[in-house]
Amino acid sequence: MKGLVLSGGKGTRLRPITYTSAKQLVPVGNKPVLFRVIEAIRDAGIGDIGIVIGDTGDEIRAAVGNGRRWGVQITYIEQDAPLGLAHAVKISHDFIGDDRFVMFLGDNCIQGGISPLIQQFGHSDFNAQVVLKQVADPRSFGVAELDENGRIERLVEKPRDPQSDLALVGVYMFDHHIFEAVHSITPSLRGELEITDAIQWLITSGYQVFPYIHDGWWIDTGKKDDMLEANRLVLEEMQPVVHGYVDRDSNLIGKVIVEAGAEIINSTIRGPAIIGEQTRILNAYVGPFTSIYHHCLIEDSEVEHSIVLEHSTIRGMPARIEDSLIGRNVTVTRSPLKPKAYRLLIGDNSTVGVL
Ligand code: G1P
Repeated sequence: MKGLVLSGGKGTRLRPITYTSAKQLVPVGNKPVLFRVIEAIRDAGIGDIGIVIGDTGDEIRAAVGNGRRWGVQITYIEQDAPLGLAHAVKISHDFIGDDRFVMFLGDNCIQGGISPLIQQFGHSDFNAQVVLKQVADPRSFGVAELDENGRIERLVEKPRDPQSDLALVGVYMFDHHIFEAVHSITPSLRGELEITDAIQWLITSGYQVFPYIHDGWWIDTGKKDDMLEANRLVLEEMQPVVHGYVDRDSNLIGKVIVEAGAEIINSTIRGPAIIGEQTRILNAYVGPFTSIYHHCLIEDSEVEHSIVLEHSTIRGMPARIEDSLIGRNVTVTRSPLKPKAYRLLIGDNSTVGVL
């Protein structure tokens, strides 16, 4: 089997972070979501992985490389325009050949990996298997309706009036018949070739399409609050370990990971939390569900339920920072200048909440 990861898209809902980087490279628990996807495929025993890239292809290539770090081989497939998930499958035909494959959306996080489903599909003669998850509000997803035998009967992309609560998680398994399907469908109202329509084509054409109902959590990390939620869930599953330096005046409470070269001085970290490589936490409080990435400084400040990306500084804040996603090379600090005022240099599409 092969793996196909879709890592295009503009990430408009994560601006301004995505003006300078791909959404799939935002870390949760200090590891980019895309790396977690690659590891899930590798852990399922698949070593040949194609990544479909778009506008942010250069950053993805730079971050992922040839895959040797994970013991896999990566092939990049360029998609000239974001014409849909089924279009991504279309242009991946040369890479996939006649193999069975798993397709995984590069901005999705799924608990427990995908080994069990790959095993099931690998030992079956299904033409396709689609991972589904019960959700409270399925309207922003593809939705599956099952028949009385548990087979998928109908799929609808983002229905206004969903007939089931089973959403399509961004993980799909296919055999070569999917290529016939993606050549047979036409673009949807949003101008994309929808994978949902391609799978519906398989069903209508009499191919065997089965569901795989996923029990654990699953997060589509398109927006800030989804990123924070994924970060929270991932941190809860990590094992505490201290590789950095923690001084005697500091307190680590609960599950805390301190990465190599990090320094915790006169501070309290209440887990689950992770402090990245070469990051300094000085006279500060880092609260639950917080990931501070590498080369940051948190000084005389309190941060909780947040993600801070690399090379950023938070210093001397008079109130706790919460529910925040802070980008790279950012400085958030109290201004000593008079007159007393907010002094901001903020990119387009930013959101700032003040007291
Ligand atoms: C895509 C699929 C949708 C699926 C979702 C999962 O939606 O079209 O069927 O439920 O991914 O993340 P998109 O994120 O492209 O709107």
